[in-house]
Amino acid sequence: MNNVELIRTLPKAELHVHIEGTFEPELMFEIAQRNQIQIPYASVEEVKQAYNFHNLQSFLDIYYAGANVLIHEQDFYDLAFAYFKKCHEDHVVHTEIFFDPQTHTERGVSFQTVLNGLKKACTDAKTQFGISSHLIMCFLRHLSEESAIATLEQALPYKQDIIGVGLDSSEMGHPPSKFQNVFAKAREEGLLVVAHAGEEGPAEYVWEALDLLHVNRIDHGVRSEEDEQLMQRLIAEKMPLTVCPLSNLKLCVVSDMAEHNIHRMLQQGVKVTVNSDDPAYFGGYMNDNFYAIEKSLDLSQDDLKQLAINSFEASFITDAEKAKWIEEIQAIV
Ligand code: HPA
Ligand code: ZN
Repeated sequence: MNNVELIRTLPKAELHVHIEGTFEPELMFEIAQRNQIQIPYASVEEVKQAYNFHNLQSFLDIYYAGANVLIHEQDFYDLAFAYFKKCHEDHVVHTEIFFDPQTHTERGVSFQTVLNGLKKACTDAKTQFGISSHLIMCFLRHLSEESAIATLEQALPYKQDIIGVGLDSSEMGHPPSKFQNVFAKAREEGLLVVAHAGEEGPAEYVWEALDLLHVNRIDHGVRSEEDEQLMQRLIAEKMPLTVCPLSNLKLCVVSDMAEHNIHRMLQQGVKVTVNSDDPAYFGGYMNDNFYAIEKSLDLSQDDLKQLAINSFEASFITDAEKAKWIEEIQAIV
């Protein structure tokens, strides 16, 4: 089997995907029309032309504007179910999905509306495709810690439906230390915790996520390579990094895929995983990310298998489920 066939065959877990970032222009138009909301584009082609980003903020401005058309439970269901269909095509068998409640509650859409739509899609994905999933609620770091605390309190009655909390949006100037209290409270409530760090922000933000937020995983973390001591810590603690190659290219975190550090980090023993981040905006879903790094970084079949194994080891499924998927990967010849 060649590398492309292997990528398609491998069962994979996705651990870094923002559901609002899976919003394909076609579906955005359909939902905008049904909800009678104006969007500033005349056609799907025009939307795609607007996806010309030069950094994280230029993406976020468009990403938040797109999310504005989501109003009803059905909208959130349609959004998530469309993503699950892509998972099915790519043999992603487990996914841990981020959602940004504040993007919706600030517009008057209730937390329950968002959660119910997403949950129903998760249930149907399990029955129709056999895909398992968890939901991770992210705090927007450009907003205050008070707003994050209010969001956590709003979510606590639905705690059984959420595996953990995360931290996303504009990284620079909003270090993890700003959210120490809300993360401590989330951990006290038994929630797992992850945070975006070291995407645009410095290695120092990764240290903060580890030492102050006590994260179970780092999202992105590609700038960790700038700090050798940090690299040693990540390796020693087997701390997973949820790396998003096409996102890094599209947001100019790297200038060329051939310069991406995911292969170097894998070879050094960092538990890196491959993820799509915001696939509707960055040019591809899980397998597209694998194809892109396979093409540019000279990955071996053992590397590809290790990346798939890492995705399950770094996930929040049970040890028995992890063992089952890893065994299946190791049996592929
Ligand atoms: N980084 C930060 N915030 C985000 C991202 C990202 O890549 N995608 C959606 N929100
Ligand atoms: Zn992200």
